[in-house]
Amino acid sequence: MKIAILGAGAREHSIAKAFIDSGFDTLVVPGNDGMKWSGIPIKKVQETADEILDATISFAPDIVIVGPTEYMVLGIVDKLKAKGIKVIGATSKSAMLEADKVFAKEFMVKHSIPTPRFRIVHTLSQLERALKEFEPPYVIKIPTLQGGKGSFILPTISEALDIGAKVITSGFEGMWSEGLVVEEFTPGEEYAVQVLISSGDYVILPMVWEYQRLYDHGRGPNTGGMGAVAPIRIDDRLFGLIKDLVGKTIKAMLKESLAYEGFLYLGVMAANNGIKVLEYNVRLGDPETEAIVPLDSAGFVRMIKDTAFGRLPENLKPFGASVALSLVSEGAPYHYTDSVLKIVGSMENIYFDHVQEEEGMLHVSGWRPCVVVGKGNTYNEAVKEAYKKAEEVIFEGKFYRRDIGESLL
Ligand code: GLY
Repeated sequence: MKIAILGAGAREHSIAKAFIDSGFDTLVVPGNDGMKWSGIPIKKVQETADEILDATISFAPDIVIVGPTEYMVLGIVDKLKAKGIKVIGATSKSAMLEADKVFAKEFMVKHSIPTPRFRIVHTLSQLERALKEFEPPYVIKIPTLQGGKGSFILPTISEALDIGAKVITSGFEGMWSEGLVVEEFTPGEEYAVQVLISSGDYVILPMVWEYQRLYDHGRGPNTGGMGAVAPIRIDDRLFGLIKDLVGKTIKAMLKESLAYEGFLYLGVMAANNGIKVLEYNVRLGDPETEAIVPLDSAGFVRMIKDTAFGRLPENLKPFGASVALSLVSEGAPYHYTDSVLKIVGSMENIYFDHVQEEEGMLHVSGWRPCVVVGKGNTYNEAVKEAYKKAEEVIFEGKFYRRDIGESLL
């Protein structure tokens, strides 16, 4: 059976590895040079809808898995489906649940899905008024895709005004809605709830903790993700509440013709005043995927196959624990330092992201060149393995958090 995986990052690398290990004829479009170095077949093309579609269709895959939301927004899922190809991924309409934060908030309100209190603002004076309604820190969400960096948590009103004013005065250029979300900051325990939607029903994957901020103990700017630990065991009461949120969401998606075969990610906050949905993503998280797939890669492959062929899959049966650790470049998440990347050891458990081959060497080509994964029977073993692996990847300005998994030990 032939599988095409669309995307160019560490998430797609870990998915491709699972399919190759299960003996599938696998191609990643467009992939990256690090994947090629790891023995994963890639078809390098420009990241435009036409080039991605052409390369995918000429591979004649039985199933296509679409990784990034950007591709879904471009209508790649819709176009492949129109050709009768089985696809795991959201339609361009459904992708608005992630791409357009205003659309997502209105969806939640319409269907009584608990979410932190918010205001949608269109003008500078509305922005100022809304910020005064809330206490610091201030949360601002902009209605576009920003690689996981479209939500800002700002300590002062003046910083929040600054960010908001830039978007408002640009006339919401490049945004999906002409409005900003100003949201009440909601402290608590945050969970990455990843769901596979299949035939109008769903399966909730084992829970993951992820670490968004650049520095230890949740300090510094939001990034696309600095680490993840899985599986996280939660008590039955909390799981029941999470199940309610997921059930309500899927029911509402079916009602609004927004359901699809593919992954939905709910950023859920268990706060003192209840459990709430912070955001939806219409894809698997990154590095959450790199943490969860290796725990039962054959099970993951089976889930995709069942979903593509119209069967509700059985859940993963994760064995042990795993830790995914993002290795980032000095200047992350906004800049990077161009340098050569070397591996001293095996390529196993290294998933590449922003790297590029130049003159026979791999170079860092973005803020996060790779993610390393440690697995073990216990969290302790998995943490040790991940940090050991991090030492085997060498590049100038390498930086990573030192507290991933710490609170579980
Ligand atoms: N790690 C968060 C995300 O993938 O959006």
